[in-house]
Amino acid sequence: MGINILGMGSYVPEQKLKNDDFIRFVETNDEWIRTRTGIVERPMAGWEPTWYMGCQAAKKAISAAGIDPADIGLVISCCATADFHTPSMASIIQNDVGAANAGAFDLNAACTGFVYALDTARRFLETDDEMKYTLIVANESLSKFLDFTDRGSCILFGDGAAAAIVEKSDKLFSSALRSDGSGAGLLCARALNTAEEIRTEAPADFKDSFPELRLHKLFQNGKEVYKFATQALPKSFELAAEKKGITKDDIDWFIPHQANIRIIETAAKKLGVSMDRFIVTLDHYGNTSSASIPLALNEGIEKGLIKRGQKLALIGFGAGLTYGGIILEY
Ligand code: COA
Repeated sequence: MGINILGMGSYVPEQKLKNDDFIRFVETNDEWIRTRTGIVERPMAGWEPTWYMGCQAAKKAISAAGIDPADIGLVISCCATADFHTPSMASIIQNDVGAANAGAFDLNAACTGFVYALDTARRFLETDDEMKYTLIVANESLSKFLDFTDRGSCILFGDGAAAAIVEKSDKLFSSALRSDGSGAGLLCARALNTAEEIRTEAPADFKDSFPELRLHKLFQNGKEVYKFATQALPKSFELAAEKKGITKDDIDWFIPHQANIRIIETAAKKLGVSMDRFIVTLDHYGNTSSASIPLALNEGIEKGLIKRGQKLALIGFGAGLTYGGIILEY
């Protein structure tokens, strides 16, 4: 069983930061950022909570799908930058959009989140006869845990949200999800520490290989993540493709995670696919983590590039380190 993407919507914050705006925080310049990453500007939430962006995108997706929110059986929010440890973003969105009959949970697979969520949604739809629609919302505010003193990372990210209403269908679908947790410390942000009042000595054999971090601030080993990404992106396609005997020539559009244009170009070269079959939005959005693939997908649809019946490869990688691919017919 496959899925049909019935409708999509997106929301990006009003505030846009251009490359030169980062001169306020770090020693950098537009030329370095453009040539090393391909990014020109990125939206950054000035006042918007992450859940608010998610709700706006979700309402647009519901309207584009033309469905009654009461018919949504499940809300999945993919989010690595939730406003709250609890409640889930999904529960807040479920209430706001009026999905009165839905279950709701968050899924954190970092930048691969939308790929993981689509695959998860398909499995729920397949096994629950009563479930008509799933709402997937990818909403992220990377800006809220960026270290604005680290020029190697703060210039890369942006904020935004994109959502999709999906339903059962017999269209082509293939997926492959992977994780390599040995690289967990290469891209991380610490959330909680033991309270000082009750802290005890760790046993001598306890190993915590994570770097000492300021709470809630993103740490990145850019060079190692870059190496991983250039392998993971083509592999994500190959793993999903080989399950169904699909080749690169069957694919109309590749929609990769939008982190760095050099990563996408390297992946395209490895796959032997020309860059004009890749949707690229990172110049104006930066890396919006799990929102990056659905923002690019929605933009491709809105621009009329992606058409019904075409075959799409959604390929992602991110913290975890996670990676994965989905091939589907739009
Ligand atoms: N402006 C100006 N100079 C900068 C800079 C910035 N924003 N950031 C780093 N530099 C400097 C470095 O300090 C270094 O200077 P040095 O040679 O004097 O030490 C020089 O530029 C080269 O740095 P380097 O880290 O080798 O650059 P790079 O070509 O590897 O690019 C990244 C850095 C972060 C853009 C690149 O490694 C990358 O994209 N990694 C993957 C990140 C990613 O995708 N993360 C998200 C995954 S979901």
